[in-house]
Amino acid sequence: MKVNGKKYTSIWVEEGNRVFIIDQRWLPHQFKLIELITLNDFLVSIRDMWVRGAPLIGVTAAFGFAKSMQYDNSDKSLHETKSLLLSTRPTAVNLHWAVKIMFDLLINVDRDSRQDIALIKAKEILTRDILSNKEIGKNGYEIIKNIIDKKNTDKINILTHCNAGWLATVDWGTATSPIYYSKEKGVNIHVFVDETRPRNQGAQLTTWELLHNDISHELIVDNAGGHLMQHNEIDMVLVGSDRTSSNGDVCNKIGTYLKALSAFDNDIPFYVALPSSTIDWNIKNGIKDIPIEERDASEVNFVQGKDKSNNIVNVEIAPQGTRSRNPAFDVTPARLVSGLITEYGVFDANYKSLQILKIISEGKQ
Ligand code: MRU
Repeated sequence: MKVNGKKYTSIWVEEGNRVFIIDQRWLPHQFKLIELITLNDFLVSIRDMWVRGAPLIGVTAAFGFAKSMQYDNSDKSLHETKSLLLSTRPTAVNLHWAVKIMFDLLINVDRDSRQDIALIKAKEILTRDILSNKEIGKNGYEIIKNIIDKKNTDKINILTHCNAGWLATVDWGTATSPIYYSKEKGVNIHVFVDETRPRNQGAQLTTWELLHNDISHELIVDNAGGHLMQHNEIDMVLVGSDRTSSNGDVCNKIGTYLKALSAFDNDIPFYVALPSSTIDWNIKNGIKDIPIEERDASEVNFVQGKDKSNNIVNVEIAPQGTRSRNPAFDVTPARLVSGLITEYGVFDANYKSLQILKIISEGKQ
């Protein structure tokens, strides 16, 4: 998508094997691009959230494998790379998905070809992400059109949480893809953006990308959504997912569950946009089985922003030494989900429907 009118993706390759990212820690105040050179760069960039968002974490991990093979293509290095990458962040299943694809492929080929094969596969995973998200956009557009037709209006107001935008993927985003596609098709669309404490991905990232891509939007505090729903100001909730269980429970950024409850209470459709790589087919109960990342308490007690001299600063908002808890994700039970918008179509959030998706997606591997 666009930044100041120029096309960017969140991660890209130059000169065949040099991997670059947008360093998301500094957005929206500073736009910094950096090259990831060593395996450690890849590990730190995922762990410390220079890149973040489930699909982008998976793509970055795939390139981490490719870089690692450039320096050491032994079996030992393959095993170590796998476990180091898997230890970076626990919740987004796309990380496991990409690491498994890379490891299973590379362990079965001779050492000398590993570097080249790894790079080809990582590029394939990157391209697949862009194509999947584009399809999600088209499939989500059909839902948006239906909602507009049913309401007999010419405008749709969508609430989104966190950043499930192009910055969370390679391009297009998951939840934002139907928004960008609908805008292209001439739909009059407005987005309410939850700020999304503690790290404010909504305030810092989603607003930034919507601004640069000319989508009408307003930032709201996390607690405003329920009120707006009660007053008919929201027609649809559209979020992404970090891991979806095989019965349709959706794990996403903390606070998503409360939005789903409000949407249910107000009879507002609650859709989740996700590539099939975000489904964990081994898990049947999202609340019981999905590991929820607990992040550093400092993210709760401090907020990052820009001061009057344009310096990026962290400001403490609670009495010094206040104890905090910081679960980063929550699980929305399938019963609150109106549908799952994937690259292969829209599926009901239940085991039977997702088994059909499983068969389709396995057929396309
Ligand atoms: O902690 P983050 O910023 O990696 O969390 C990201 C989210 O929760 C997104 O909503 C999710 O990955 C959906 S992605 C396109």
